Amino acid sequence: MTHLWRGSLLLVAAAFLLEGCFGSSWHSLRYFYTTIWDPVRDVSDFIAVIYVDDLFVGYYNSTMKRVVPQVSRIRKVEEDNPHFLDRYTNLAMLDELRQKMHLKDQRHLYNQSRGLHTWQCTFGCELSQDRYKRGFSHIGYNGEDYLSFDKETLTWTAATVPAQVTKRKWDANLARNRYIKSYLEEVCIEWLQKFLDYGEESLLWREPPTVRVTLKASYDGLETLVCRAHGFYPKEIDATWRKDGEVWEQETFRGGVVPNSDGTYHTWLSVKIHPEDRFRYQCHVEHDGLPEPLDVAWEEPGKRRGSYQAAHKAPSNL
Ligand SMILES: *[C@@H]1O[C@H](CO)[C@@H](O)[C@H](O)[C@H]1NC(C)=O
Ligand SMILES: *[C@@H]1O[C@H](CO)[C@@H](O)[C@H](O)[C@H]1NC(C)=O
Repeated sequence: MTHLWRGSLLLVAAAFLLEGCFGSSWHSLRYFYTTIWDPVRDVSDFIAVIYVDDLFVGYYNSTMKRVVPQVSRIRKVEEDNPHFLDRYTNLAMLDELRQKMHLKDQRHLYNQSRGLHTWQCTFGCELSQDRYKRGFSHIGYNGEDYLSFDKETLTWTAATVPAQVTKRKWDANLARNRYIKSYLEEVCIEWLQKFLDYGEESLLWREPPTVRVTLKASYDGLETLVCRAHGFYPKEIDATWRKDGEVWEQETFRGGVVPNSDGTYHTWLSVKIHPEDRFRYQCHVEHDGLPEPLDVAWEEPGKRRGSYQAAHKAPSNL
């Protein structure tokens, strides 16, 4: 009975979410490229991160040389486009070469043979429900704004005086600028559309937290219980201590909610306790990925080893 009720609530929430996201708002496909030259190894590393709206959908780096999807979100796109990831990987490999070349050009331009140097490129496109399109490309060098692309005039805007050298060189290459404009307005939008056609799956992605409580002794004879919630999505989570079932805020410390490299989040909270109260505290966690709130208490090591984590990992909604 309660299950059915929860189920229909979820459906209503889902419909609402889709409505909100496909309403008047914009959708975006964004790429974050970072190229770092390491003077010690005399090589550059390249990392690409791909986002649709606020969802982390793919990752590529110069060691792996392939696009690694966040499977639950682009699995369906891949089913319908069998070469989707191969094509994406090929594009990423070409971009890696280009970005490394740009970084090398800059270093030579400024005679920088020492120190760490970074070249960052953020580009992407946006699409509104009324099918208005926007596109952008920004470049940063050594952590500062450097150049940004103006699609209408097909020129680059320099953010610093040194960047003007590169601006003049790039402005002169009209063919390349035309290509970038058409990439942003057409190719990028096509890829974005592909992701949005499977938007339902992306928008409903839920990953429940794994929750563990550990115990630390303290020099003052007190103890600290630490509750860690790991691997959850979306970011919103409600974690509190309960003592004998009542909300307990005293002596509680909280870590922030921090992203993991796979797009999920982790967080922690601790509470200072008297050793004899160890079993009276529970870490109470509420999250969209959990069918119902979790209450996890500290357990003596060895008692439920092995099955511990599995026991508290609820199945994902998808
Ligand atoms: C690429 O990712 C792999 C796996 O996460 C990692 O081992 C490697 O160090 C990464 N390489 C770079 C250049 O970040
Ligand atoms: C670059 O370095 C070379 C050799 O160290 C030096 O002769 C030259 O003046 C430098 N150029 C600039 C623009 O700093």
